[in-house]
Amino acid sequence: MSDAVKLGFAPVSTPARGVLVIFCNSGLKLGTATRKVMGAANDTLTRAAAADRFTGKNGSILDVVAPGGLKVSRLIVVGIGGSGELKDLVKLGGIAMGKIPTGAEEATIIAELPDGAMKPEQAAELALGARLRAYSFDRYKTKKKEGEERAKSITLTIGVGNAAAAQKAWARQEAIATGVVMARDLVNEPANILYPEEFADRTKPLKKLGIVVEILDEPAMKKLGMRALLGVGQGSVRDSRVVVMRWNGGKKGVAPVAFIGKGVCFDTGGISIKPAQGMEDMKGDMAGAACVVGLMHALAARKAKVNAVGLIGLVENMPDGNAQRPGDIVTSMSGQTIEIINTDAEGRLVLADVCWYAAKRFKPKFMVDLATLTGAIIIALGHEYAGLFSNDDRLAERLHECGEATGERVWRMPLGPDYDKKIDSRFADVKNTGGRDGGSITAAQFIQRFVDKTPWAHLDIAGTGMSSAASDINRSWASGFGVRLLDRLVADYYER
Ligand code: BES
Ligand code: MN
Ligand code: ZN
Repeated sequence: MSDAVKLGFAPVSTPARGVLVIFCNSGLKLGTATRKVMGAANDTLTRAAAADRFTGKNGSILDVVAPGGLKVSRLIVVGIGGSGELKDLVKLGGIAMGKIPTGAEEATIIAELPDGAMKPEQAAELALGARLRAYSFDRYKTKKKEGEERAKSITLTIGVGNAAAAQKAWARQEAIATGVVMARDLVNEPANILYPEEFADRTKPLKKLGIVVEILDEPAMKKLGMRALLGVGQGSVRDSRVVVMRWNGGKKGVAPVAFIGKGVCFDTGGISIKPAQGMEDMKGDMAGAACVVGLMHALAARKAKVNAVGLIGLVENMPDGNAQRPGDIVTSMSGQTIEIINTDAEGRLVLADVCWYAAKRFKPKFMVDLATLTGAIIIALGHEYAGLFSNDDRLAERLHECGEATGERVWRMPLGPDYDKKIDSRFADVKNTGGRDGGSITAAQFIQRFVDKTPWAHLDIAGTGMSSAASDINRSWASGFGVRLLDRLVADYYER
């Protein structure tokens, strides 16, 4: 497998080289076109399946090297089980891609199920899964381990009934795939390379897609009164930035939808410094911002008929002689004063100013923020669901539904006045921590004080943005979580 996949669609035919991937059901039945492709090799399949006790169970694999009756080097048969067992074509594409050996230069997947040809949209979903599975982040590997040599790139052909229609459907999925890959790259990148200014610079290529990119530097933020965000960054030699990205694909004058990302390029904890163990993971504390960038790419690249704005708050949280102290009181852009109890609760300080700014400047239909906000959400939900907090039941339901549909799942958590009062401060309007108990909830309550009446949802992606277990569609540390979820939310509910 290689990151560089040259992906194309072609009419179904028997390949003469490379790896061939086909699908069968639990009765070892193949589709009609697939049977034709196999020709004399149908018998090979029957014998190999018996020898390997392969029955075509959902997700099972039969791997035949130099299959008799075919010229290909390898035949991979992916079982899809009984009728109705196969639901997720993205996942199936990931499984198929995962079986294509590292180093293969050519592969063909026949996009046909035993009960019939895949629709163009299904073939494109299959391709999305393959593309995401093939991703790896090896920019900083100068040596390859023996046996792990990768081909420079793999040419992957999806054989499908209507190749032209599949290619068209792929345009949409490719936009999403590239968005996910962009997000993963940003999250995987180390913090000595990707500091706030550099991160901001990496949003500039979005202009080519028609996105309006605006970068606010520190003087601009000071002028706006973003003292909560600036306080987090003041201990770092790196300047802070806010980036505003606007995609106007909808009707002129219609209120946009807004997405806000936490972009802490590195979180040491600041003066309330974190323990050394695992601190390297805090290079990924900008996964929310990375998702917003990937999402904006996806929306623009597929020309979504929506007005959307993405805002990211980029800072580095460092201990320093000039760093913010516990006990400090800062005035946020909203005018509310914040007592800093713990400098490691920095993400909410960044979001306080960016959410307020987004709400006031853009008056969006709704806003969704994404943030690797609390360790507590990992305790509550593990790495399987992101925490969802919302002041709007309809928005929450839609997010939940899109989470189930894409596999980027979210679980709603409570909000309420009894939690809110835990962040009342003795000296200021609000304090930045509410204690250990219900830590993810009090963090969300904090953000809620800075969204005014805007319909809003907060996704705590500390458990899902990075370091999840390997999945069928991701082998890398960073997941790109949220891009597919939010693209779906826009597509299903907010495009005219
Ligand atoms: N970035 C962390 C949360 C985090 C932890 C993300 C683990 C990913 C993996 C956040 O800034 C943080 O430090 N939160 C504190 C809040 C506490 C000080 C109230 C936490 O969760 O311990
Ligand atoms: Mn922190
Ligand atoms: Zn953080």
